[in-house]
Amino acid sequence: MDMEAFLKAIPKVSLHLHLMGSVQARTAVELCQKHGVVLPDFEEPEDLYDYPDIYKFLHMYDNTALGVVDREDFERICYETLSEAADHNVRYREMSFNPTTHMAAGVDYGTCVDGLIDGINAARTDYGIECRLVAAVNRMESPELAVEMVETMLANPRDEVIGIGLDYAEDSGTSPERFWKAYGMARRAGYRLTAHASEAEPPRNIETCLDLLGCERVDHGYHVVESEDVMRRCRDEGVVFTCTPVSTAWVYFDNDFDNHPIERMREFGLKISLDCDDPPMFKTDPTKDLVMAHNHMGFEVEDFRQCMLNGIDGAWIDEPDKRSMRRHWSTEFDDLAANLA
Ligand code: ADE
Ligand code: ZN
Repeated sequence: MDMEAFLKAIPKVSLHLHLMGSVQARTAVELCQKHGVVLPDFEEPEDLYDYPDIYKFLHMYDNTALGVVDREDFERICYETLSEAADHNVRYREMSFNPTTHMAAGVDYGTCVDGLIDGINAARTDYGIECRLVAAVNRMESPELAVEMVETMLANPRDEVIGIGLDYAEDSGTSPERFWKAYGMARRAGYRLTAHASEAEPPRNIETCLDLLGCERVDHGYHVVESEDVMRRCRDEGVVFTCTPVSTAWVYFDNDFDNHPIERMREFGLKISLDCDDPPMFKTDPTKDLVMAHNHMGFEVEDFRQCMLNGIDGAWIDEPDKRSMRRHWSTEFDDLAANLA
């Protein structure tokens, strides 16, 4: 078995994936046609997924969201991304979605989450994959809207929705402290907490997310390498970073995989869990991000074992389930590693 086949076969936890960034281009085109959403001209649907910067990417992402309206649309996109994940042996995923994006387009929160839950149930039946949902605050919108999002979650509880996150462009001049109120409400209601932090801004945003918002893990976090103090603190506290090599090499590091800060984070001993962010929108998948980490960031077999265990540590599941996953997956991992050429 070669390295790529090995990386495809190992069991995976997926903690950093955006629902709307996971919509296949063909599906986006069909859903936009269904709902009369106008898309730019294209020859092949995949041509739509080509953008010069994160803002143009987010524009495409929002445009795609306009085509996802009916409960069965949500079911379809959720099922499709989980089918792909299962094909790469993702066993458990915590998937972000942006409720306010859909609500602004007139979609009821219940329609959106219940469609996603239909997709989760169908994928579990067909592939045995488990998935939970993380409602993400769009940081480019107002703090008041974030509070409204949490109020909507509280008024429409679903077992599958277990936490909140914070995404969209961090370098758009919106600091994480603006969202203290929404995070406080979610925390008091028992939701788990994460945020995209220091993807594009200094490590202070990581401290704010940990100390003010109460986040349990950090999505991205690459600028942590600018502060030895923050790195040491995160290492000492065992903070899990969910890192996505492909999407961020493209957006922030000029496609220079060899100088991506993930390598320094790994060398320092931070707890990294790798994932693929927005797979079709960045032409990647759950294996390709691992392959790039191997080819360019010094990840070897033992690092991938650690990544797998870090994903289990960072997942919002019960400790007995984690213990069982660690035991069984480690055995599977060893068996696969023994077959690595
Ligand atoms: N989707 C929403 N926000 C994102 C971000 N900051 N990076 C990648 N995908 C995203
Ligand atoms: Zn992300």
